Amino acid sequence: MTKKYHIITYGCQMNKSDSERIAYMLKSANYKSAPNINEADLIIVNMCSVRQSAVNRIYGLSKKLANLKKNKPKLKTILTGCILDSDQKKMKNRFDKIVSIQNINHIVDSPFTKHYLSTPPIYSSPFSAYVPIMTGCNNFCSYCVVPYTRGREYSRSTPEIISEIRKIVKKKYLEIILLGQNVNSYKDKNGQRFPELLKTIHNIRGNFWISFLTSHPKDLSDKLIETIANSSKICPYLHLAAQSGDNQILKKMNRNYTVEQYEKIISEVRKKIPQISISTDIIVGFPGETKKQFSNTKRLMQRIKFDMAYIAKYSPRPNTSAAALEDNVSSKEKKERAQILNKILKKTALQNNQKYIGKKIEALVINPNQAKTKSFKKIKLDKPAVPGTFISCQITDVQTWSLIGHPLDTTQNHNINPN
Ligand code: SAH
Ligand code: SF4
Ligand code: F3S
Repeated sequence: MTKKYHIITYGCQMNKSDSERIAYMLKSANYKSAPNINEADLIIVNMCSVRQSAVNRIYGLSKKLANLKKNKPKLKTILTGCILDSDQKKMKNRFDKIVSIQNINHIVDSPFTKHYLSTPPIYSSPFSAYVPIMTGCNNFCSYCVVPYTRGREYSRSTPEIISEIRKIVKKKYLEIILLGQNVNSYKDKNGQRFPELLKTIHNIRGNFWISFLTSHPKDLSDKLIETIANSSKICPYLHLAAQSGDNQILKKMNRNYTVEQYEKIISEVRKKIPQISISTDIIVGFPGETKKQFSNTKRLMQRIKFDMAYIAKYSPRPNTSAAALEDNVSSKEKKERAQILNKILKKTALQNNQKYIGKKIEALVINPNQAKTKSFKKIKLDKPAVPGTFISCQITDVQTWSLIGHPLDTTQNHNINPN
């Protein structure tokens, strides 16, 4: 009888994308997908370690899996994803096998020999595709586990990426989302850099959007800004983690830029690409963060007026250099600081959305009642439209996290000029 697999994915888009490749490897080994976990013979857990809470979740899940095993002794469980060595030891008895993401192609008996990113994926969406272009990180920010769990940076070759994208575009995919821990640090064996890669993708014939996640401020070059500004298919959306608005904290975080440099990038980006929307990541309560240092982050958020911000409470991580510093901001204080920043965000997000009122814009329909703008804003549709199509949409009102839109032309349309 054919064996069935079930994948549980936690973490960022990179992990979601990795799961799409794991699915392909299993399919090649004649496994079938089991949407219902109770029907699975093999359960793969793709984990995240970015905060301790993410790791704790896996301990909870492993208890549930142990229960499933009681009724199904032949059930196999594999843990993969971003795992720290110290957790690997602790999880050893809770899973049948632990496989690092770098070795994920050994999950089945006939291993794929190339780098795991070279295996094709089974995309989860029929019109929007994640395409990982690099993985890993060389930056060693003092709080972060990624360099330890994913290892050093590895960039896929440009021809391999282009060939994957050509195939998707042929299948009428409308959105290509390039992924990497630091996409803009992309550099392949032949020295090809990120702006050139973007240009090459832009030159592929077809009507589709290109976006990318996430960029590091230290590699955000003028050339990249020019490329986004001059390529109609590239979405006017930038996720650029600031982490803090205080130079001393940035230094302790080992971020390699100052607040002034960060703001200079943002103002350059806004000058060249006026319609851009900008999101960020912030950590509150880094070891030793004083009220004054925190208020610098507050002011940065007030000045920049982000469209979106993912505000995290600092969580000490094993192995990282910040783990040696005392985690001396109380969890109550961290919570309060996060709330203050979220309040600022709510205001600026709503303000930024107001400029859309009365505009007629192009949108990609995600489900019958929801679309998104090229600048990554959610649109609630007041009339159903066909998922996986571009439509023209009249924005009638806005809320903090979404626009309200009226589809002007819900007939299938691949021909709207994406400008
Ligand atoms: N490479 C990306 C970030 C990837 S990790 C960048 O540098 O822009 C995603 C986010 O998780 C980080 O931006 C950070 O805000 C948050 N994060 C990472 N480590 C954390 C920790 N120890 N505690 C709290 N948040 C953390
Ligand atoms: Fe982590 Fe810093 Fe690398 Fe981002 S750049 S993945 S925060 S070490
Ligand atoms: Fe992503 Fe979590 Fe790994 S944020 S890179 S899945 S540690």
